[in-house]
Amino acid sequence: MVAFIALAMLFLINDRVAASMDIIQELKAKLESSRRKRQLPIIAPGFDPALQRIDVSGRHEFVPPAQGDQRGPCPGLNALANHNYLPHNGVATIRQFTEATNKVFGMGLDISLFLSVYGAIFDGNLEKWSIGGPSDGVKLAAFLSQPQGISYSHNHYEGDGSPTRGDLYLCGEAYSLQLCQFKQLYFMQNDTKEANYTIPIIRLFEEIRLNHSISTNPFFFYGFISGFGVANGAHHFIYRFFANKSAEFPEGKLDRYVLKTFYAISGDDNNLIYTPGHERIPENWYRRAFDDEYTLLLFFGDLIATGLVNPQTLALGGNTGTVNSFTGVNVADLTGGVYNAKTLFEGNNLACFLVQSIQMVVPSFFKGPLIALSSVLLHLFKGINGSGLTLDNCPQLTRLNESVYSIYPGYTKYANGTYPTFGNCTC
Ligand code: HEM
Ligand SMILES: *[C@@H]1O[C@H](CO)[C@@H](O)[C@H](O)[C@H]1NC(C)=O
Ligand SMILES: *[C@@H]1O[C@H](CO)[C@@H](O)[C@H](O)[C@H]1NC(C)=O
Ligand SMILES: *[C@@H]1O[C@H](CO)[C@@H](O)[C@H](O)[C@H]1NC(C)=O
Ligand SMILES: *[C@@H]1O[C@H](CO)[C@@H](O)[C@H](O)[C@H]1NC(C)=O
Ligand SMILES: *[C@@H]1O[C@H](CO)[C@@H](O)[C@H](O)[C@H]1NC(C)=O
Ligand SMILES: *[C@@H]1O[C@H](CO)[C@@H](O)[C@H](O)[C@H]1NC(C)=O
Ligand SMILES: *[C@@H]1O[C@H](CO)[C@@H](O)[C@H](O)[C@H]1NC(C)=O
Repeated sequence: MVAFIALAMLFLINDRVAASMDIIQELKAKLESSRRKRQLPIIAPGFDPALQRIDVSGRHEFVPPAQGDQRGPCPGLNALANHNYLPHNGVATIRQFTEATNKVFGMGLDISLFLSVYGAIFDGNLEKWSIGGPSDGVKLAAFLSQPQGISYSHNHYEGDGSPTRGDLYLCGEAYSLQLCQFKQLYFMQNDTKEANYTIPIIRLFEEIRLNHSISTNPFFFYGFISGFGVANGAHHFIYRFFANKSAEFPEGKLDRYVLKTFYAISGDDNNLIYTPGHERIPENWYRRAFDDEYTLLLFFGDLIATGLVNPQTLALGGNTGTVNSFTGVNVADLTGGVYNAKTLFEGNNLACFLVQSIQMVVPSFFKGPLIALSSVLLHLFKGINGSGLTLDNCPQLTRLNESVYSIYPGYTKYANGTYPTFGNCTC
């Protein structure tokens, strides 16, 4: 009986993988044609108001979440669901996530596909996932555990050191906005009229956040995907995606009003109010130019430039049970000597390791069929010329030695993403 169920599940999963692969192949073709359009070297983006203005009327009018609708740690996805660019219940398929983030924000199809597939593997059922917590809309099978959604994806999606979300150990949950963190960013530009949140300002904010985590959270953990990729990446998203584009500022200007609107904050400066789940796209707001989608190439460029300014963002590791005990992961031990802390950031190794490590940490039940899926993902990243991102000659990595993580309680204890509050959820 058990064997029968296992076999039935394998077919089901194979079906889903096959469906995902069809979508990936189709999107890859689109991606390639958009790449052909945009030739390097990078020039200033154009601006076309008619094309870039995002409709927030009629079908796309803001509708706050109702009982049972999922909302979670990502303000971008929450806003898409509130405006019906994603299903209003907050549960969507790989295709829906990929298309909505591309259409409304100009997220490159390579990043959006990667993030969507990753969500489906780790927090969903390979077909769809929830932008908040567990949902009846995302079922696996009776005898498998219920997918938890990205609200409870600690250390594989959600991580410590986020812009406005608290560290799990400090705040007891990591999906709500902590007003004191938001205010830290908000008041970094305190001349209301000229407020202009740019990448250098967000980098400084990130440095303050990371220092705070290291000095107050004994279980701070900064993983490769959840930390370097997602929490660090999300800082850049604040400006790259939320900033309002115009002829005058084709790369965007992010002022107080726009920042507050996307972050579900209302009220005036001495009385800022957070209404969970009410993230909105402002009226009269313009997305990235169509010739300037935020692709993996630009994303990696941002991560590396930030790493040069603040090397902390490149340091995988965490505290070892006391505050201020940050210890870097021994990358050589982790990868059996294939990479070390220095070579990881050379050539295309970062991109190689990113994809390879995902292949290796997929939940064991999915492993077989997913090797096929991730090889399609590998293929997706191939051939980005001149970016250092090609995966053509990756060093061979055959296994990850996860025992290197045993010194980090923030890694070993995360279990289900719902610690009892441990510390002091302040800034
Ligand atoms: C499928 C695509 C996406 C996925 C899977 C995703 C997932 C996530 C997750 C899991 C987090 C939590 C990170 C953490 O707290 O450690 C997050 C945060 C964030 N995301 Fe997304 N996201 C996606 C697309 C977007 C888009 C399109 C935007 C912008 C328009 C965006 C903006 C942000 C921002 C600004 C944060 C930081 C929240 C904070 O202040 O702490 N994301 N996202
Ligand atoms: C404005 O910000 C600067 C730098 O963060 C700070 O030194 C100054 O006190 C702030 N001014 C006000 C009025 O809050
Ligand atoms: C915002 O700051 C950037 C960098 O300091 C500057 O280039 C830009 O002109 C400023 N934009 C506005 C609208 O003040
Ligand atoms: C963060 O901590 C580092 C290392 O202790 C220190 O050099 C840096 O100045 C701190 N940054 C901020 C913004 O406090
Ligand atoms: C975006 O910029 C345009 C052009 O400057 C402006 O008309 C519009 O009001 C801005 N949108 C928001 C939400 O600030
Ligand atoms: C990448 O470069 C190779 C060799 O220089 C070339 O054959 C190929 O057409 C290029 N691919 C793209 C997408 O530009
Ligand atoms: C795995 O990592 C541990 C802890 O760093 C190390 O002692 C051990 O030698 C590593 N094993 C391999 C096979 O690399
Ligand atoms: C998560 O695990 C902790 C202990 O590890 C337990 O107390 C808690 O009830 C669990 N929460 C859920 C939602 O399973």
